[in-house]
Amino acid sequence: MAAEFQGRTAVITGGASGVGRCLCELFARQGMNVVMADVEATALDQSAAALREQGLEVTPVQADVTSPESMAALEQASRDAYGNVHILCNNAGVGIKEAQRRMWTLTPNDWDWGFGVNVMGVANGIRAFVPNMLAHGEAGHVVNTSSGNGGLVSLPSTPIYAATKAAVTSISEVLHYQLQMEGAALQAHVLFPGPHVVNTNILSSMRNRPEHLRDDDEPVAYTSMADLVKASGLGNMPLTEPEEVAQTCLDGIAAGQFWILPPSEANDAQLRARSEGILARRNPPLPG
Ligand SMILES: NC(=O)c1ccc[n+]([C@@H]2O[C@H](COP(=O)([O-])OP(=O)(O)OC[C@H]3O[C@@H](n4cnc5c(N)ncnc54)[C@H](O)[C@@H]3O)[C@@H](O)[C@H]2O)c1
Repeated sequence: MAAEFQGRTAVITGGASGVGRCLCELFARQGMNVVMADVEATALDQSAAALREQGLEVTPVQADVTSPESMAALEQASRDAYGNVHILCNNAGVGIKEAQRRMWTLTPNDWDWGFGVNVMGVANGIRAFVPNMLAHGEAGHVVNTSSGNGGLVSLPSTPIYAATKAAVTSISEVLHYQLQMEGAALQAHVLFPGPHVVNTNILSSMRNRPEHLRDDDEPVAYTSMADLVKASGLGNMPLTEPEEVAQTCLDGIAAGQFWILPPSEANDAQLRARSEGILARRNPPLPG
């Protein structure tokens, strides 16, 4: 158990499932007080109960990252439960029903939902928490979950998702600069879960899509990782487990890394090719 984490307080959005749930468990195992925030009440209560049964100190708070009011209430509830907040993980995110869809066929509701959760969720988290995290003056961290898809290199198959994650990388870089300009004891980080597709519930993100942002149209391409693996035709398609992502994140925070990016030769090659293409003013080739 690292001394730097013992007795500190972390708030994790999207804490009921996948990467967020694993972050909650790992942080609590370091002796941290953990606020698990999620919009999905039943899953949140079940996940929190499972962690409490293991003797871990977690408090579930239902919160919708798309709502500034809900995030302000989450910040207040976190301080009421544990006092100063030291780590904020803006992790909640959704995949949109867009796999292989052309960008011009996606609806205003698709764009609103994707940007509402993946981008405004991060902005709302920063707005709600950073002022008090700066004011208390103790060391702290803001970790925004991006994705290699869009956050580093855009895939042609997921237009909205890639655009939202490009925004998350950009928001994180600017936050990193501005916290330094403030001379703050607070550090920004950007997390890229991977190096492979992570074995979570993200392909069933529609479970959390609000009624007013739904369209009466075609079903989503895949709703589970098992479907995706089957559709890929690669029975042995590599997956990363979310526990591994949580450990990479914790290690990255402890090491003070801004880019929490797991090593991967394949991903590095894509990033290098993109950067070299831009510097050569070359038109991007279709990814293989
Ligand atoms: N799974 C992957 O391969 C992968 C890869 C790169 C990045 N990511 C990112 O990792 C993060 C976590 O996703 P995951 O893969 O664990 O998926 P997941 O679906 O298992 O978990 C996401 C959580 O976010 C919650 N959520 C959704 N909308 C919300 C809202 N409006 N307010 C609060 N919570 C909300 C969900 O209820 C869920 O508990 C996301 O930002 C995702 O984009 C995932």
